[in-house]
Amino acid sequence: MLHVLLAGLLITCLSRVHAHCVTYGDCDGLPCVNSTSALPMFGEQGRNIVSELCPHLKGGGKFCCDDHQVKVLKSSISKADSLLSGCKSAKENFRSLLCDMVCGPEQSDYLQVEKMEQHGGKTRATHLRYFLSTTYSDKVWKSTKTQSTLLCGHLFSSCSKDDLFGFLGNNRWTKLRTDYVIGDDPPARIVHASHEHMSCGSETCVC
Ligand SMILES: *[C@@H]1O[C@H](CO)[C@@H](O)[C@H](O)[C@H]1NC(C)=O
Repeated sequence: MLHVLLAGLLITCLSRVHAHCVTYGDCDGLPCVNSTSALPMFGEQGRNIVSELCPHLKGGGKFCCDDHQVKVLKSSISKADSLLSGCKSAKENFRSLLCDMVCGPEQSDYLQVEKMEQHGGKTRATHLRYFLSTTYSDKVWKSTKTQSTLLCGHLFSSCSKDDLFGFLGNNRWTKLRTDYVIGDDPPARIVHASHEHMSCGSETCVC
């Protein structure tokens, strides 16, 4: 019994140590499938952008995104920011959601490639699964729902948590479909993204 427990613990620890990227680099607008270990940004500009947008991602200055991806990330985030107008916690939460997905150095802990295709001699992801804890997904939902039903895909009706994540992961503007898998009991070897950088507690998240 003890052996089994210890072996389980060891496997858990090893898989944590070996967390790596699932995607890296841009393949014509979709992320390339690549299980490299996280890499440093090449350029000064990329380094600056990632530390400004994603200050919670330390990872020893290594990331699962490159300079080009971080520039694209910046423009997606500023579009979301303009929808989320006055609400700081909504912006922060949304930002960390995207940062962890695109750049988090331990992507393999919480991201899986569901579908991929060959493109220009490389393999790119067309469909991802992104595991989120209940607490974190609640915070994202509570902080954004009063702000922008646009993020839910409809303007005038109310926005359930399923509406929000369903729309974020699959709408006519996204090329990369993402299934958000929400729950506190992720499958073996999957843990939740760190998401440490939240500027609101569960009570104060409503703007
Ligand atoms: C993964 O990324 C690294 C770093 O850019 C690159 O050297 C390697 O060729 C890539 N692997 C694949 C399969 O694209």
